[in-house]
Amino acid sequence: MALFITFEGPEGSGKSTQIQLLAGALRQAGQAVTVTREPGGTRIGNAVRTILLAPEHTEMSQRAEALLFNAARAQLVDQVIKPALARGETVLCDRFGDSTVAYQGYGRKQPLAPLEQIIQFATTGLTPDLTLYLDLDVRVGLERKRTGVGDAWNRMEEETLAFHERVRQGYLDLAATAPRWLVVDATQDVAAVQAVIWLRVRTLLATSGVTYSEVADRT
Ligand code: TYD
Repeated sequence: MALFITFEGPEGSGKSTQIQLLAGALRQAGQAVTVTREPGGTRIGNAVRTILLAPEHTEMSQRAEALLFNAARAQLVDQVIKPALARGETVLCDRFGDSTVAYQGYGRKQPLAPLEQIIQFATTGLTPDLTLYLDLDVRVGLERKRTGVGDAWNRMEEETLAFHERVRQGYLDLAATAPRWLVVDATQDVAAVQAVIWLRVRTLLATSGVTYSEVADRT
């Protein structure tokens, strides 16, 4: 069975590092893995990403923003995620529909019901088997991002601290609603976060009937 695992978190929560580590552990365990991200992951999605995140696009309508994130998502679902799952691969995605609820819903205060319909349309109802939410104080995350070597500063990060606090609260509310969520304390060091994630993924593999090599248990 192919698993669909998403990573969520506020800015600077260390998602990209953990995705790479999990991909490595899964591959070591004999799984075929596709790693992708939102917004982006396809040629069309990357073009939309440039429009979405350009710091100079200060005039962007909030509804246009929500639709563009979901346009990129629809392209990614059709072009990358569904085909990979159909090939039996485990798919790891950096952000997915929950980001729209957290950022556009809680952050921008757009109404949740229409957003959920748009996400449903974009994803055709595809829901992650597991969502790993890397949680940390937004001030710590923004500071990590400012001083780090990751992607350039973008339009979303220009937002106020209150915006990012609402995003975090959105994630915590979402995580309380469904068993597919695992909240991970992202202030721990990289190895500790990795261990918590691997434990949960290993359990999921076992309960999903996926056979994997014990080699990865030593990671
Ligand atoms: P990115 O540089 O990929 O940030 P990160 O490493 O934190 O994922 O930028 C993506 C930004 O877009 C990030 O601030 C979250 C935001 N976003 C939304 O507002 N809505 C969405 O649906 C998605 C997927 C991302």
